[in-house]
Order: sequence, then structure tokens, then C-alpha cells
Amino acid sequence: MTDRKPIPYGRQHISAEDIEEVVAALKSDFLTQGPRIAAFEKAFSAYIGASYAVAVANGTAALHLSALALKVCSGQKVITTPITFAASANCIKYCGGEVVFADIDPQTYLLDIEKVRKLLQASPDGTYAGIIPVDFTGLPINMEAFRELADEYGLWIIEDSCHAPGGYFVDSKGNRQICGNGNFSDLAIFSFHPVKHIACGEGGMITTNDRQLYERLLTLRTHGITRSQESFVNDMSWASGNAAGPATAYPGWYMEMQELGYNYRLTDFQAALGISQLKRADAGLVRRKEIALAYCRAFEGCPWLKGQSGLTAGHAYHLYVVEVDDRLGLYNHLKNNNIFPQVHYIPTHLMPYYRQQGYSPGDYPAAEEFYSHCLSLPMYPTLTDAEQDYVIQTIYSYYNG
Ligand SMILES: Cc1ncc(COP(=O)(O)O)c(C=O)c1O
Repeated sequence: MTDRKPIPYGRQHISAEDIEEVVAALKSDFLTQGPRIAAFEKAFSAYIGASYAVAVANGTAALHLSALALKVCSGQKVITTPITFAASANCIKYCGGEVVFADIDPQTYLLDIEKVRKLLQASPDGTYAGIIPVDFTGLPINMEAFRELADEYGLWIIEDSCHAPGGYFVDSKGNRQICGNGNFSDLAIFSFHPVKHIACGEGGMITTNDRQLYERLLTLRTHGITRSQESFVNDMSWASGNAAGPATAYPGWYMEMQELGYNYRLTDFQAALGISQLKRADAGLVRRKEIALAYCRAFEGCPWLKGQSGLTAGHAYHLYVVEVDDRLGLYNHLKNNNIFPQVHYIPTHLMPYYRQQGYSPGDYPAAEEFYSHCLSLPMYPTLTDAEQDYVIQTIYSYYNG
């Protein structure tokens, strides 16, 4: 064991300005939802290029609310990738739906559109309700292609962009399409967990260009309660208490719970941190790309390592994932040298919960092959050149002795 500072695979960066903004929020009148929520939503939707954004408690809540807003219910089937955090699939189970996985593309590690197409072709129309593609590692999935396929079968799309704020792909017309901008997906979701590009402690966001879905999400985020007079259902005089006779307006206190929602609110001080972090998001992307480029160069031509094919312009590089020979040996060697890589992900279909639903080894060979070799190397904007050199040298020392 060395006495070097530990190097994790990912970490947050909290600046003096972030702290000042959070302290200002704590000193204000608002602890739970206050003016910083709307300000964060406005800044985030502008950054992504979507019309609307809804801030929520975490990325999992964002997925759950999205599935609810799209009316996922018992018996409905939804397709997603096995190589993602379990929450991408679990949101369907929360609503009583059924998760169907489709295998990954072994080059990109993303949900393979051809595998999704095969599933759809093999089933009667109406079998599937939607698709949840994931911009895994920060590599933007081609949403234009998924939209075309989804439209053919009348499906909705939730883009899980937790790894890719600021990432983009280039569409068939040569335009940059920023992940989650809502041009191709119905809803997109983000997480502000500390290892993500923007950290709020816990936090999440849903983006969309659909006004109706946006309004539904606002109500679902807070118990299914609405304070909007135009949508009240109960009689105005009854709401006022009847005693004073027929009423001409709803009383000031009045609100209605019109459907079953949740408390998935973000707090104002978390939003203060998010707003402050968002200002550095582009600088973070630039640094992440530099780090990726240095890894690409360092490992070019190595027979014991392969990665996502080359450096991609719109990649948001949340993770730098490689496939290596003897992954366990390398992992232990790095740990012994105070470097802490991680594995993203254990295939969701082989988690005991999903095995109980009928999935078993061999179901998704590309995902399982990827899992047996994948390792996420340190990737975060404050990783120094010297630290990265040390990581690279330590990897070389394992294979070359
Ligand atoms: C791809 C993906 N989806 C969903 C989530 C869930 O986000 P959260 O941890 O904020 O609930 C994560 C976070 O780890 C994620 O990486």
C-alpha cells in the first residue's frame, strides 16, 4: 500500500462559490422548494435546450415520475438495456409494468437498436409501451434513430441521460442534438448524485418539450396536489365551507389532491448547489475530454486493453470504461496502489431480483461478455495530470511487470 492520496473512479468538486451559494440559501426564508428551484429548472432547461425542466429529489425519482406521467401500468412491457444502473429498469416495476431487456452493441456498450427492433418485430403490435435508452458512460445514444423506430410502433421514449449532461450526437441533417433536449425523446432524466457532472448531494431533473407532461410532472412531484384554480374539481361553495352561501371564488387556502403523487421535491439549498455547479459544467466537460484523450493515447495498441471506439466529439465522459484481460487482477493491483476503479455495471438482468423474474445467464451475451472485462478508470475534472500518469503507469506495471 502506498501513502498516496486515494484516487477514486469519480468524485465531486465543491468550490468556495458553491459553498457561498448554499450558505446564502440556508440563510434565506426557504429550505424546501423556494425560488432557487425555478431558477435551477430555468438554467438547466436552457443548458440542455429543452422547453421545460422539473427538479426532483434524485434520478430514481425522475425515472419513477416519468414512468407515472407516461401512464405505465400493470401488464405493460418496456424495453431497456441490461448495462445501466438498476433504477433505469426499476421505474417500470414501481408502476407494475414488465421490464424486457435488449442486448448492448459490443462496440458502443449502448442499447443495440437492432436488438430492440427484433423484439418489436417478433411481438404483436401493442405488446410494448416504451423504450428507455441510456447514454451510458456519457456516450450519447442516437435518439433520432430510436425515435423513428418508436414511432413505427407507437412507443414513448424516456432517455436516461444521467451520464450525459452536455453530451450530444449529430443528427442526419448535421445538427448537434444535446442529450435530453426533447427533440426525439418524450422525457429525459438526469441525476445530480455526487459522482455525476453536476452534484447536488442527491438530486435529479426531468426535461421535456411537452407541456402536458410537464404540468403532470409538477403535480406528481408533490403528492398529486394542484393549486391551479382552473383545474379544480370540487365545488367552489363547498370548498369555501358553504356557510356563507354561494361562493364566487375558491378560498386562498384551497388545493386539491387529484391523483396519487409523491413527495419527490428537491430543496432550495440543493438547487443553490446545482445552479452554482451548472456554471462550471462546460469547463468540466473540457477537462473530462482531456483526460479521455490522455487515456486513449496511453493505451493505443495495447493488446490487453480495449475501450469504446476512440474519442467521440459529443461524448460527455461521465465514465472512462475499458475492457481488460484479467480484470480482477488489475482491479486488486490498482487497489493495492491506492487507486479505486469501479465496475459499471453488473448486468441488471442478473441481479437476484431480476433472476427471480425469469432472467438467467446467457440471455444477453454481449452484456455479459462486457461485464466480465469492464473497468471504469478514474475520471473527474479535478484528477490531476500527475495522478492520471500514476494511474496509467500502475496499469502498465501490472501487465508489463
Ligand atoms: C444511468 C443511471 N440511471 C439512473 C440513476 C439513478 O440516479 P440517482 O442515484 O440520482 O437516483 C443513476 C445513478 O446512479 C444512473 O447512473
